[in-house]
Amino acid sequence: MRSVNFFIFSISALLIALLLQQANGEAFGETKRLIDKVNKNGPYVGVVIPNLFEMNPLLNYPEYTPSRLIIDFGGRRFRFGSVGKKQVILVMTGLGMLNSGVTTQLLLSLFDIEGVVHYGIAGNANPSLNIGDVVIPQYWAHSALWSWQRYGNGQDDALPLEDNGDYTRDVGYLNIRNYSTDSESDNFLNNIWYQPEEIFPVDGTPEERQHVFWVPVEKHYFNLAKTLESLTLEGCLNATTCLSTPPKVTTVERGTSASIYLDNAAYRSFIYDKFNISPVEMESAAVALISYQQRVPFIVIRALSDLAGGGEQSNEADTFITLAANNSVKAAVEFIKLLSSPERIASSIRI
Ligand SMILES: *[C@@H]1O[C@H](CO)[C@@H](O)[C@H](O)[C@H]1NC(C)=O
Ligand SMILES: *[C@@H]1O[C@H](CO)[C@@H](O)[C@H](O)[C@H]1NC(C)=O
Ligand SMILES: *[C@@H]1O[C@H](CO)[C@@H](O)[C@H](O)[C@H]1NC(C)=O
Repeated sequence: MRSVNFFIFSISALLIALLLQQANGEAFGETKRLIDKVNKNGPYVGVVIPNLFEMNPLLNYPEYTPSRLIIDFGGRRFRFGSVGKKQVILVMTGLGMLNSGVTTQLLLSLFDIEGVVHYGIAGNANPSLNIGDVVIPQYWAHSALWSWQRYGNGQDDALPLEDNGDYTRDVGYLNIRNYSTDSESDNFLNNIWYQPEEIFPVDGTPEERQHVFWVPVEKHYFNLAKTLESLTLEGCLNATTCLSTPPKVTTVERGTSASIYLDNAAYRSFIYDKFNISPVEMESAAVALISYQQRVPFIVIRALSDLAGGGEQSNEADTFITLAANNSVKAAVEFIKLLSSPERIASSIRI
């Protein structure tokens, strides 16, 4: 009798364990099945968007057709729809490099993505461009991986761990003393040396680092983007408030990103002189670094909403942010439509 009871007890314990396991497995299993199913209908263009105020104009854009499908995963929402003949997955990252890097990696790991289109607003460091212009850089760098040099050392002194290959003086530095209001004074903050990012590309050897500072946009996407230069953009907020110069779409050489909101004229002009950048913002380089390592083509389209501290007035973003966001959406939509043309699909789009 005792042994039968024990048998029944064991069986029910086993069943309970199995049921619990199933309940856990079920939650993930259901999402996993859905992901497998949508991937059978791939590939998709991944549209990575920083903030709500940049996503909403796309959700309301006449040429965006949402499907009913939404997949939530890891705190992110993946929205399915189409633009022109292209199936797209939209995902919002939230502010900054960590959010945009993680979200881009999730997108590329979970779904069958043929290319990434990232759009939004940016500060403008390039004095020859205007607020409202939409810029498409060829190269992106993360500008806030630093080695901060001790006071007393200078450009001829090796950085800590430089001999290991961990840090380098190749990219150059910011001398903080150069920006004192009293030009004769010294400054304990000394020098900040820019560092390339350590990367682990999908076709490399895991744990064997490579380095990159300027991440190139995929050549084919960049050439395609040049055809957007003829696009007409909205130049007015309303009947009375317009940009002083009609906005344009233009390809530019470089942009930089960091988890830093830049509203400072001195740093703006330093970073322009040093790196010849146009947009300066907080997400694109992370999207670029992840896409590059996963060998998925990407492009970044950013509308200039302010002068990153270079303007006469306090930051202009407050006034022109909606106009800039709308214009970045328009350029992104037109870019995705260009991807639909048959000869584009046929050609190789790997980096
Ligand atoms: C931006 O687009 C939205 C529609 O998504 C529209 O309601 C709004 O008026 C536009 N704003 C500007 C400044 O163009
Ligand atoms: C500091 O300023 C001098 C003089 O303007 C300039 O030549 C030099 O490149 C600057 N150095 C740095 C690291 O910014
Ligand atoms: C147009 O927009 C500006 C800036 O937001 C605002 O000050 C002005 O009142 C608006 N004019 C009209 C006619 O809505």
